[in-house]
Amino acid sequence: MPEATSDELLGRIRLHGRIPRHVAVIMDGNGRWARDRIMPRTFGHRAGMQSVRDVVEGAIEVGVGALSLFAFSKENWQRPKPEVSALMSLLEEYIQREADALDENGVRVRVFGELERLTPPAAAAVERVTAQTAGNARLDLNLFISYGSRAELVRAARRLAEDVAAGRLRPGDVTEEAFAERLYTAGMPDPDLLIRTSGEQRISNFMLWQLAYTELYVSPVLWPDFRRAQFYEAILAFQARDRRFGKVTV
Ligand code: FPP
Repeated sequence: MPEATSDELLGRIRLHGRIPRHVAVIMDGNGRWARDRIMPRTFGHRAGMQSVRDVVEGAIEVGVGALSLFAFSKENWQRPKPEVSALMSLLEEYIQREADALDENGVRVRVFGELERLTPPAAAAVERVTAQTAGNARLDLNLFISYGSRAELVRAARRLAEDVAAGRLRPGDVTEEAFAERLYTAGMPDPDLLIRTSGEQRISNFMLWQLAYTELYVSPVLWPDFRRAQFYEAILAFQARDRRFGKVTV
């Protein structure tokens, strides 16, 4: 049987009706994709940027409300310097090239992580696109850069402690809601679906709090080959899941 086209997959998704409100993605496998072609790792990251574009367009088309992409972890700073600089430049390039189109499509871009570590041009690009798209509401595009989930949790705990110490909050007011309000994702629904590419079955310090009840989908496809059709397949797989949130279904 020939593979279904993106449009056919989209038709099936719409027929089913249940669209995830928030999809998170661990984009993995750029290095292996490049190695398979006897090319430098940065070649894979550049190809991966095309997948980012394709998946963002797919998310808009399907009507997903939020898309969270893990683009660069805190641990990634330890990669060889040329690779780190290439990733910073790619981020800058992506923002420069896509900002207007994202804005026109109603995408609100936010970047979460320890942004003070970004190179000045990358930080400036982040600030620009964040301000430019701040009024949009069709799709929340969250780029996690220089991000680690444990650091995000510690940051939230520190903010709560500061509020308690300053008398703005009582210890009894430290609830799940109060905690969630101090995460980067404050005000957003938790991801319904987490996609990880390249076959690895790990969370890798990504959105540990927010993923508590998220459906996991591991694709064997390397990120540069993960395009709109593969994204739609993941959503179809999600639609076939039975989500119970710890309860039973009758
Ligand atoms: C994982 O592959 C991917 C990354 C560390 C970087 C992801 C970056 C992009 C997709 C491009 C730019 C992103 C944006 C948002 C513009 P890996 O290098 O760990 O691959 P490997 O596991 O095969 O070595």
